[in-house]
Amino acid sequence: MKYRLLSPGPTPVPERVLTAMANPIWHHRTPAFEGTFQKCREGLAWLFQTQQEVLTLSCSGTGAFEAVYQSCFSPGDTVITVAGGKFGERWGNMARAFGFNAVVVDCPWGEAIEVAKVKAALEQHPQAKAVVVCASETSTGVRHPYEAIAALVKERDETLMILDAITALGVWDLRPERDGIDVLVTGSQKALMLPPGLAFVSLSGKAWKMCDKSKSPRYYFDLKKELKNQKVNQTAYTPAVSLIEGLHESLKMMQEEGLPAIFARHSRLARATRMGVTALGLELFAKTPADSVTSVVQPAGLKPDAVYKGLMNRANITIAGGQDAVKGKIFRIAHLGYYDELDIITVLAAIEIVLRQEGYTQFQPGAGVGAASEILKDGFVAQDATAARRS
Ligand SMILES: Cc1ncc(COP(=O)(O)O)c(C=O)c1O
Repeated sequence: MKYRLLSPGPTPVPERVLTAMANPIWHHRTPAFEGTFQKCREGLAWLFQTQQEVLTLSCSGTGAFEAVYQSCFSPGDTVITVAGGKFGERWGNMARAFGFNAVVVDCPWGEAIEVAKVKAALEQHPQAKAVVVCASETSTGVRHPYEAIAALVKERDETLMILDAITALGVWDLRPERDGIDVLVTGSQKALMLPPGLAFVSLSGKAWKMCDKSKSPRYYFDLKKELKNQKVNQTAYTPAVSLIEGLHESLKMMQEEGLPAIFARHSRLARATRMGVTALGLELFAKTPADSVTSVVQPAGLKPDAVYKGLMNRANITIAGGQDAVKGKIFRIAHLGYYDELDIITVLAAIEIVLRQEGYTQFQPGAGVGAASEILKDGFVAQDATAARRS
């Protein structure tokens, strides 16, 4: 049976990108590599919709957060983090690991953070050097109201707005300068349609100034050192050369599709997925769902992880299950990156079959697929990844 990957990272990689990564390895201290890297820098600035340099790091998204924490702050600094899911909680834990004073704003899993709670934390800790929020909390499928939080942070000269956009950038319209985001982080294995292994980060002028004051020990992850190198199309250390070849191709694909079409496609696939699962009588777990991943409460009475495991073992489809507090209780369907309408129809059809096999029969066969088709009935407008190859 064909393998199908619908997890919110890693996500599928298009053939064009896989082929590009199979090119012979360039040495990274050569004009050939520098030419590719320059095009990637331009493409990333386009994707981030920023005037700032977007740095490429050879690590996963968590590594980019380490780089930001070590480069911007000093032990003893106060950092406010928003919990409410595995990744929000991670940024609080990491702050503690670096000896910062982590002020964690609690939020029930599945809910969006109340902006008033962050406002209160800022008022209580006016010396805070940063507020850290996930745009899309992948573990719950929630979109947090980061724009309103950024508006609060903007008024403070000594506080940075740090946005984990690891499953948000390339999904919806996010612009650091317009939205008041000082530090924007994303990773390769999500909407960028690449394998895991690269992370990307942009810093505002305010954030770069903060870097001048940081006293945290650092060596490999040093954003100022990377900035100096990347401005001349080099990296401080050996980069993941093949992934950068892939990045060059994936950025080309994204530019062919165009940002408005990319955002519209994600919104459409997300709406179709939500319509499909609710038509099966299932409940969405996220109160304010993000367009990157749809989290669904598993019907009562089923074995823990019945849907997730049923898809994995019987349909060769990997979606995601629940983590930590909601382990076994929810399942999550990804639609960020290289997905089209038929991916959604296929996974909904497979979910219907697995649900019936598991004994949940409170829907008409085809109800989920039918509801999703209503949203998708204008036709197949998702990007054609093979177009460039055929022309
Ligand atoms: C919102 C969010 N933040 C952080 C991470 C961690 O990124 P990585 O696994 O690339 O280190 C992920 C990964 O799924 C994520 O979805």
